[in-house]
Parts: sequence; C-alpha cells; structure tokens
Amino acid sequence: MRKLRVVLAVTFVSLFGAAMASAQPSISYSEQKKVWLLQAGEQSYAFGVNERGELQSLIWGGKVRDLADIRPAKSLPERASFDLSTTTTPQEYPGWGAGLFTEPAIKATFEGGNRDLVLHYVSQQVDGDELRITLKDILVPLFVELHYRVYPGEGIIARWSVIQNKMDKPVMLESAAAAAWSLPRGTGYEAHWLTGRWAGEWQQQSAALGPGSIVIESRRGSTSHQANPWFEVDRTNETTETSGPAWFGELGWSGSWRITLETTSFEQTRITGGFNPFDFGYKLAPGESLTTPIFYAGYTNKGRGEASRIFHRFQQSAIFPGGDRARLRPVLYNSWEATEFNVDEPGQIALAEKAASLGAERFVIDDGWFGQRKTDNAGLGDWYVNPQKFPHGLKPVIDRVHTLGMDFGIWVEPEMVNPDSDLYRKHPDWAMNFPGRPRTEGRNQLLLNLARKDVSDYVFNWLDKLVTENDIAFLKWDYNRNWSEPGWDAVPVDEQKEIYVKYVQNLYDILARLRAKHPKLEIESCSGGGGRVDLGILRYTDEVWPSDNTDALDRLVLQDGFVRAYSPGAMMAWVTDVPNFLDRRVIPLKFRFLVAMNGSLGIGGNLNHWTEAEMSESRAMVAYYKSIRQTVQRGAFYRLMSPVDNSASATEHVAQDGSQAVIFAFLQAQRFGSPFPTVRLRGLQPDALYRIKSIDDKLESAPEVLSGDFLMHHGVNFNLVGDYDSSSIVLERQP
Ligand code: GLA
Repeated sequence: MRKLRVVLAVTFVSLFGAAMASAQPSISYSEQKKVWLLQAGEQSYAFGVNERGELQSLIWGGKVRDLADIRPAKSLPERASFDLSTTTTPQEYPGWGAGLFTEPAIKATFEGGNRDLVLHYVSQQVDGDELRITLKDILVPLFVELHYRVYPGEGIIARWSVIQNKMDKPVMLESAAAAAWSLPRGTGYEAHWLTGRWAGEWQQQSAALGPGSIVIESRRGSTSHQANPWFEVDRTNETTETSGPAWFGELGWSGSWRITLETTSFEQTRITGGFNPFDFGYKLAPGESLTTPIFYAGYTNKGRGEASRIFHRFQQSAIFPGGDRARLRPVLYNSWEATEFNVDEPGQIALAEKAASLGAERFVIDDGWFGQRKTDNAGLGDWYVNPQKFPHGLKPVIDRVHTLGMDFGIWVEPEMVNPDSDLYRKHPDWAMNFPGRPRTEGRNQLLLNLARKDVSDYVFNWLDKLVTENDIAFLKWDYNRNWSEPGWDAVPVDEQKEIYVKYVQNLYDILARLRAKHPKLEIESCSGGGGRVDLGILRYTDEVWPSDNTDALDRLVLQDGFVRAYSPGAMMAWVTDVPNFLDRRVIPLKFRFLVAMNGSLGIGGNLNHWTEAEMSESRAMVAYYKSIRQTVQRGAFYRLMSPVDNSASATEHVAQDGSQAVIFAFLQAQRFGSPFPTVRLRGLQPDALYRIKSIDDKLESAPEVLSGDFLMHHGVNFNLVGDYDSSSIVLERQP
C-alpha cells in the first residue's frame, strides 16, 4: 500500500510539474525527460538517461524548485579524437569500457577474456524515500542496481550499488564503487579531508583541486588511522566556516576503502568511493550479487560548520543504534592508563569506589583480565577470566560496581590472537596467512580470519557467552593492528581476495547478532584509538574511542578534526593523569575536564593518586557535565575559534530545542600579553533572552541576561591568562 501511494505521487508530480512544487516529494521523476530529482533538506540531486542510454549526472547542489528546471540528459561531445564522449560525459556509475579514461565505478573481467563493461539504463522503482535504478551491460546480463535513499529531514542522500550476475558464467569484479558524485563543472574547488596515525588522528588537510586526483584510502583491511572516509569540497573564494557552498560525504565501510576526488581535463570534479580496488577481487558466480558499502552525501550553502552539523544530526537520528531514542552516554571510568595490564579484583574495586564517588555511571575493566594476559605478549584469543587476578570470576567486581550505582563494561579484542595463546596453538590456521610464508606480527599479535565461518561463529559464541553469563552493559571492542599477509587458503584461489569484503560483513553480522540478542548492550569501537571510526561500524556501536592520545592540548586539535565528520556525542573523551604519558605535558585538571566535556566524558586517571582537592574539583566537573550533556551529545556544534594554528580557541553547543547553549573557551598559550579574543556566539535565537551562568569568575562582567542578537553580534569576553587557562558558560533561554 505504501509503495503504491508513492508511485502515484511520483507520477502525479511528473504530470503536473511546477504546480506540485510546494509538495516537495523526496523523489520525483519525469517520464518524458527521463530525469529524476531527489530532494533532501537543502540538497537537490538530479540525473537522467542520455540518448545513448547511459545514466548521466546532472545536478548536485542547492535547492532546485522542481523538475521543470532540469534539462534532459544529453551526452557531452568528444574532444578531438582523444577524449571520447564516454569520458567527457559524467556518468552516475560508469563501467570500465567503451573508452572511459576517468575513474570507473566498476571494472570486471568476464569469462573468455572480455573486459569491456558498458552499463545502460533498464528500469526504475520507487519505494518510499528509496529509488532503485537498474542498469545492465549492453550485451550480457550483468546488472547493477543503483540505490538512492533520500533522508528528506536530515538533508542526506545515501547511495550504494548491488551488482548481480545473471549470466550462466562467473565474472571477476576488480573494482566496485558505491557511487560517483559529480560537482558542477569548473575550477576553484578546495578539498578537505582527515588523515593521521596512531595517537595523531583527525589531522585536517586541505588542497585546491586541479587536474589530477586526490586519493584518500586505506589498504589496511580496516578504516585506519591513516585517513578517514570523509570529505568536504567547497569553493576556495566563497566558502567559510559560516557561509558558502559545501559538498560533503562519508563512506560507511570498515574495511579497505578508497575515495578518489578526481578533476578531469575538462574541469569536471568527480568523487568516487567504495571498496578499495587495491588487491581487490570478487568472483560473482551465476546468480550471485555483491552489495557495496553505502556512500552518504550532503550539500549546504551555509558553510563548513553547517556541513558538519548536517552530518551530526543525520548520524544521531539515522545511523547510531537507537537513533534519537538512544540513551545519553554515561560518564565512565576506565583504568587503562592507571593500571595497564595490572588489573585484579581488589584493585578494580578500590578504583570503582573512587570513581563512583566522583559521579561516574559506568565502570570499565580494560585489557588484562583474561587468559594469561600479563603484557601484550600473550593471551589474546583465550577469553576466560584470569584466575590469579580474579579468583572468584568477575561477579564480585560486577556486584560491587552495581551496588555503587554504576553499570559494568569490559574490554575485548575479538578479532585478534597472540601466537602465545591456547587458541593459536589449537587453530594456527585461523590466523590470516599465506601458507608457508612468515606471519608478520604487530604488537605480538595476528589477525583471526573473520571471513571464515568457523572463526566468526567462535567469536560470536564466546562473546555471547561472556555477556550472557555476566551482567555486562558495555563492551570496549578493540582492534589493535592492521592486516598483513591477508591469505585465506580454505577457499579456491580465485575467491581468496573476497576476504576484504567477507571479513567486514561477518564483523557487522557478529555485532548485529550480539545487539539483537542483548538489546541493552552498548559497544564502543576502538582501534588503538581512532583506527576504526566510520558510518559502517557506527550503525552497530554507540560511541568510538577517537585516539589513545589523551593529552588535552593535542585533544583540542584532534577533536576539532573529529567533529568535522562525526557527532561530538559519539566521541569518548577521558580526563587522564599528568604528566601525560605521551607528551609529558602537565595541564591543569580543569582544562583537561573542559576539553573532555566536548564529547562523552570519561575519566581515566589513577584515582588512588588524586588529592582530596582534585577529587572534589572533579566531582563538581562531573556534575556540571551532567547538566549540559544532553546539549553536547545531541545539540548543534559550532566551531567558534579553531585550536588549529591558534593559541586561543572556543566551541559552542546549542541544544536541539534551543533552550540551552554551552560555551567552552581555552587559552592554550598566552602570547605577548594578548587578551583573550571576544567570543561571538552562533546559532541562538536573535530575539530570545538568555540567562548566562559561568562556572567560574573568568567571564568579564556583563549583564546576567542578554539577547541572542547581542550575544551573536557582540559576544562575551573571557579574562583568560597564561597557559592552559579555560572557562565555560551556560546560557539558558528565558521563557
Ligand atoms: C588500545 C586501546 C587502549 C587500550 C589498549 C589496551 O591501545 O586504544 O585504550 O584499551 O589497547 O591494550
């Protein structure tokens, strides 16, 4: 019934065009023009079938009134004899064939040697906010279904492809993208993306786009610290943090991936993303299909900040488990930096008591509780409770944690094995390897080949048992190395490269089954910090650990990069000890807390060493966080002053309903006696009145109640001095 209604609406729009403009359907189609128009928030997206039968990209950008404004697709001419029309014409999903020199969306080798693949339009189907376009090779029944899911409220379009082999022979896929997005033709674009390394994730990169490609990718088997599958492209001379056009996207895939931002010789920028074609091979047997990752994208003309906010809202409502109904992230305590592998029953209970007294709501035992795990040399794979450290099992700790009013979480690293483990001694073939070749260890560990059914069953079963037998509310799911020797000798040679796809599918499957069976269980995605953060894993995990780097000064910069792409609420942020383990920097407790409060607050210091003064300051900080966390975790984030290249910075979070705004101000280092710059606020209601409350005496005297207009135009002044000074104020909108 639902389907029928939508199809009728689509037909109606195509007949009456402009008259229906106000209805703004998410998907409309003109049979006469063979053009589709997708409307998502500020974003309009259109494509059509050209005279050759190719699906041609037409529009990506700001709002189009309706289909009447869009011309039918017409291929572009060949240029001289070198750039054929198939290369000059931007296609929605080009196969490598027929003279294509730009980035293909799909490349295949057919039985008998043919490598020419030319996809033409066959049919369409609309189902609610989802459009499915079927393409087929001009000669053989290799089909590609292009899926477009429109999120009208959130302003996002999601695209993915399903490749179907309806031939009676297998075909070998050598690359398969989710989608290709084409920008309006011309020069003057600038690309932004995120790169990093262990303890140095989320570094913001920018470069002007010119002829050639910027390739961001991971060949590592997982998302990686090296680059994150997010991009934003804007106009060099037009776009700022607060204004101008921005096109942006994220690929939801936790395996090897690639996004190519390619500018052709004809000033056509195309952004193609999907499985990384490097070392890729997927054999589609007759009747089989392959579904690509999902590539999400959006557009705004309100600048880079709004591009981030659109993604944040989308993630909160459409990606994160539970969506808007998910519970707020609890304040957690984790002893990793305090005790490392030296966890035991009395030690953990003592820390739990201290953590509870600060107001922590969740207590997490990190690495070291299982098998013969004393250092990182041994134990991964043997998921029984270590009897020396916890002679009575986990129950006494969990019970105590509960009586202290907290829930209990535990660290696991299910995809890994130490060669020094019972599991490896029993199943050496379960580790990824090329038989007879060396197995390269990283942190003394190897990867379990999750693509194998026996391995993924084993992993699911022990996790399920652990969560069933113990009252566990939370798993910190770690993943501490990248792939090497990705062999899978249990399947025929021409299927072995499917490991890149099947591993990740099985990982998602385990997470989905665990969550289905234990609906209250929450999971954090960690990979030596932020090595596995993407919109694929975030459909199954409630939060991520963005970096092992907990130095508050570095965190300011890392967090500024993180929130370009991901919602602050998903970002776990601990307050840890000083001197920091990494940079040896000593930063005041207050600054450390206020930095961490820009995400989901956690505490990771050795509370046994905290003075009574520090404990009481922390208690007040935790209470303050609880009063603003709804705003931080679910609100709109504004980058008022970036900490990158600045010694002063400020952030603002505005509650979804506008009733509260929280401002954090940080003076990393005062230079030449400069006063802290005026902080002008954003995202307030101009005519509303806000009561201002400061957590300290750093706010320069101002009336207690000010209008949104005043606060946005004239701002507030903080009297911050010296190094690592900080403050925070809360604005409550007056009724
Ligand atoms: C990784 C995580 C850390 C910690 C250790 C434990 O590095 O990112 O937070 O859990 O593993 O070995």
